[in-house]
Amino acid sequence: MTAVRKTAAPFADAAPFAIRAERAADVAAREALLDASFGEGRHTRTCQRLRDGRAPAEGLAFSATQHGRLIGTVRLWHVSAGGIPALVLGPLAVDASCRSLGVGAALMNHALAAAKARGHTAVILRGDPAYYERFGFSADKTGELALPGPFERERLLAIELREGALMGAWGMIAATGAKARRPRAAKTHAIATAAA
Ligand SMILES: CC(C)(COP(=O)(O)OP(=O)(O)OC[C@H]1O[C@@H](n2cnc3c(N)ncnc32)[C@H](O)[C@@H]1OP(=O)(O)O)[C@@H](O)C(=O)NCCC(=O)NCCS
Repeated sequence: MTAVRKTAAPFADAAPFAIRAERAADVAAREALLDASFGEGRHTRTCQRLRDGRAPAEGLAFSATQHGRLIGTVRLWHVSAGGIPALVLGPLAVDASCRSLGVGAALMNHALAAAKARGHTAVILRGDPAYYERFGFSADKTGELALPGPFERERLLAIELREGALMGAWGMIAATGAKARRPRAAKTHAIATAAA
């Protein structure tokens, strides 16, 4: 399903954008956007440990597009939060030329609504409280949780989609998502190598 958004009033002349499910054809543009937004070191970030080799949660990867161009991305991933099933959100990124038009907020609201509609009960992320508080995230429920790597306690945030979902959450946040399928070319190469 695609949701078309009009841009916020001060930018009424700006082209509207759409939020839709991520497609396989989005991968190159998504990766370029993430490189531009977070730099080459993004693969060493702590939350990446929760995504390495995993597929995003079913139906919870979204792209924002404008005139057919990918301008934003967000994905959610299955984790265990000290034994409690939850999702981790990220990375969230919007093309620098399209920021402060509400694209990030639209992606967040769409992703959280979709997660709730699918029955998920809690979403965790590592990010700036000053941005994510507006969506209901706080560090209130994450005080006893840890990430598999360095992190700043005040930036580990969560929102409960069902009240009490993270009550008593304690321990390590660990990836639980399905293994990512390897691209067809890599698979073919692996088979060829094994047969050689
Ligand atoms: C964060 C990001 C996704 C926001 O996207 P966006 O489309 O500009 O977001 P919105 O239009 O919904 O909101 C913009 C507002 O959020 C504010 N904002 C953006 N990043 C912020 C941050 N880290 N802390 C506090 N406020 C922030 C902007 O100043 C702007 O404020 P204004 O409405 O008063 O002008 C985008 O800036 C981005 O891709 N940044 C680089 C990657 C990144 O940092 N991702 C988040 C990881 S924590």
